[in-house]
Amino acid sequence: MAVKKERRDFLGLALGGFTTLGGIAVLGAAKRTWDPLPSVKSAGFTTIDVSGAQPNVLNVEKWRGKPIFILKKTADMKKDDRDIIVGKDRFLICIGLCTHLGCIPSYYPKQLKFICACHGGQFDTAGRVLKSPPPIPLYIPPFKVEGTKVVLGEAGETFKKMEAAGLTV
Ligand code: FES
Repeated sequence: MAVKKERRDFLGLALGGFTTLGGIAVLGAAKRTWDPLPSVKSAGFTTIDVSGAQPNVLNVEKWRGKPIFILKKTADMKKDDRDIIVGKDRFLICIGLCTHLGCIPSYYPKQLKFICACHGGQFDTAGRVLKSPPPIPLYIPPFKVEGTKVVLGEAGETFKKMEAAGLTV
């Protein structure tokens, strides 16, 4: 009886260990997927170095539990007042939650649009609505540009100007 219990304890511990290791591996993979660019988080701010971003490749970062879309624009992509200039490059930086009911839209680089699978809403590369039901563009979070880095959570001068002009929603 004691032998059976010990065996059960051993199997339970072994299974628990494998489950924990599996969980850590999954979390590590998720972090790599969600934070493809070098980023530093502290006290509600996330600083992301966008110098390694590739044109027309969507990077998804995380800020205060929300997905943040970072899309470096190609030279021939249409210019927009919502573009954020970092160094010599133009970016779309926005909260990656559909403004209809909060699903995460997917980016289709060949079509140059975001499509929300929940109800078919679409956004262009400036985060503006191409197809309803989303009522407003993707939100631009408070940001500040410092060299090749973007600090999310801090409202810099550019963000304040954009906000005053109604461009952040
Ligand atoms: S949540 Fe995106 S279209 Fe409804």
